[in-house]
Amino acid sequence: MIAHKCPHIQVTIVDVNADRIAAWNSEHLPIYEPGLEEIVKACRGKNLFFSTDVDKAIIEADLVFVSVNTPTKKSGVGAGYAADLFYVEACTRRIASVATSSKIVVEKSTVPCRTAQSMRTILEANSRPGLRFDILSNPEFLAEGTAIKDLDAPDRVLIGSLSTPEGRAAQQSLVEVYANWVPRARVITTGLWSSELSKLAANALLAQRISSINALSAICEATGADVDEVAHACGLDSRIGSKFLKSSVGFGGSCFQKDILNLVYLSESLHLPEVADYWRQVITMNEYQKRRFAQTVVSSMFNTITNKKLAVLGFAFKKDTGDTRETPSATVCRFFRQENAKVSIYDPKVPEKQIFVDLTEPGVADDSQLVQQQVTVCKSAMEACTGAEGICVLTEWDEFKSLDWEAIYASMAKPAMVFDGRGILDADKLRSIGFKVHSIGKGL
Ligand code: UGA
Repeated sequence: MIAHKCPHIQVTIVDVNADRIAAWNSEHLPIYEPGLEEIVKACRGKNLFFSTDVDKAIIEADLVFVSVNTPTKKSGVGAGYAADLFYVEACTRRIASVATSSKIVVEKSTVPCRTAQSMRTILEANSRPGLRFDILSNPEFLAEGTAIKDLDAPDRVLIGSLSTPEGRAAQQSLVEVYANWVPRARVITTGLWSSELSKLAANALLAQRISSINALSAICEATGADVDEVAHACGLDSRIGSKFLKSSVGFGGSCFQKDILNLVYLSESLHLPEVADYWRQVITMNEYQKRRFAQTVVSSMFNTITNKKLAVLGFAFKKDTGDTRETPSATVCRFFRQENAKVSIYDPKVPEKQIFVDLTEPGVADDSQLVQQQVTVCKSAMEACTGAEGICVLTEWDEFKSLDWEAIYASMAKPAMVFDGRGILDADKLRSIGFKVHSIGKGL
């Protein structure tokens, strides 16, 4: 987006992974995101470059964005909660060692509060005469599937800096980059630690809203209230707002769970156990929602799905992306596998190979063969649904709303059931065709 909006700025994206860079330089970009390809193709080779020559890019840059992943630690101190800062530190050290002129280092990765302090210590320990490093925090708020739209017209751009004159000057340089297309009033400046914490806080608050509406969905199902009506009625209160109140089978994606776990870890490290428990509950509710959905499928199908064919429509964690990280669909499919169902999956964007990787239990002998026996990845929704006893809609792809549901009904074993985990289908219409329908947050 910077290259697209600022023809006078040269943007070089570097990665140690040569395959990824080759893909970025090819006809087939390594990720799917609506509108991305057009922008990359328009700027590539003009003021946008993709390269594996990390050192050259560092030497030539005035601003360096550190945009590496910060996964949840799998082992050691804070395993399962804390962010792994290995890649952030490796980048910082690389910048410190190869730079030959002063740099503004921008922390773009989502990091725990006060990470900039460690980066600064490393950079300052390596500053040399005539060469200084300033550090900024500039968290990213785009959502997948709407990345280009979000970058083009962000609600806000947040830039945190130290409150020293040098820190403020560095902050101003980055403000000027964004000012090329973002209205000034939307570019907000804060201290470093507020900026870092705001990123975790924003994701925690968003995820908390989904867990709140999902908790209400369970009450709706038990009482006959309709979760969409409840969300609408509550959302019209301008203090609450209507967005992000769509009940679902659970939230997924690479960020919400990771960032909340990170916040839990931070709270515990600060000896704030009640705060940690409060945020942990958002994850607990999400796990409950996925399990509750899968259990409803089993209980509706006469308490057994052994050897029954179940169609799963949607594997990505949300529509308009091929990303499957923490996708609720994988959790539900794993549950179905344990119940020995035959699962047929269709997703318009997720490759077959990825689905098998996500459903294979790591470390379980022969599981990859077992997955192949239990799971079929289909080329269309119709193929997945033919002969099935139940259909689960687990990603809200638009195409699922306009499927030929009459033809699907005719092809299925009876009674034919639909479990709408995204609340996108017209349940009355499906019932008039003959389906038995269960929609999240709605009584039967
Ligand atoms: C999220 C945030 O929305 C972004 O602001 C943030 O920048 C990003 O994480 C990040 O930290 O990188 P993303 O995970 O791409 O973005 O997607 P979301 O649109 O937030 O959806 C997350 C999950 O919540 C999806 O599984 C989605 O289906 C679910 N969801 C969302 C609901 O179940 N109900 C809703 O009302 C909204």
